[in-house]
Amino acid sequence: MLKLLDHPLAQHVLTRLRDERTQPSEFRLLSYHLGLLLALDATFDLKVEAATICTPLEEHEGRMLAEPLLLIPILRAGIGLVQPFTDLFPDVSVGYIGLERNEQTAVARRYYAKLPNPTGRKAFVLDPMLATGGSAVQAIDLLRRNGVQTFRLVCVVAAPEGVQAVEEAEPGTEIYAAALDRELNERKYILPGLGDYGDRLYGT
Ligand code: PRP
Ligand code: URA
Repeated sequence: MLKLLDHPLAQHVLTRLRDERTQPSEFRLLSYHLGLLLALDATFDLKVEAATICTPLEEHEGRMLAEPLLLIPILRAGIGLVQPFTDLFPDVSVGYIGLERNEQTAVARRYYAKLPNPTGRKAFVLDPMLATGGSAVQAIDLLRRNGVQTFRLVCVVAAPEGVQAVEEAEPGTEIYAAALDRELNERKYILPGLGDYGDRLYGT
């Protein structure tokens, strides 16, 4: 299931992210803003529980979040989506998966993984670009082997090829993204896309 952000601000920010003139300092800020919108969208159904508090005037039964989060950014680019989540939802655990695509083959190689105990936490895999889907499918496989049962994938831009690869590997996976782009080019970059997210985020 692919759920696309439907907000004018998301379209505005994404267009600025795509613009080749946008420099890393601005790219990081835009990435943060889009991450806030994605974080709100992808957490719309978090569990809440009743909490009785006193306003300055009277007792009130309100609602408080009852479901702590597990964030799993895919290094490097996924780091760009962590702070929006942690700013909105401070009660998080963060696990990391390092994956890097080979520049010739576009096949991702895992070079790092550190995953906390997922019990009782709602998991979100953060990776801005879903291109061939190879990185996401590797990450999903690792999560499964580490006991993560349900998770959502949060992306900035998804390609049809990547969505299909995730759907084949893990039918029913919920993917939250800002845009579904047209296709991949011969080097497996997303078109129109925004280039290499990690390079643009970190100025490399
Ligand atoms: C990018 C991106 C995704 C991956 C998507 O990472 O951040 O993780 O490519 O491509 P795929 O769907 O074809 O696997 P990259 O390998 O460039 O590493 P980086 O984040 O360190 O730049
Ligand atoms: N990774 C990126 O950062 N951009 C793409 O277009 C494809 C993979």
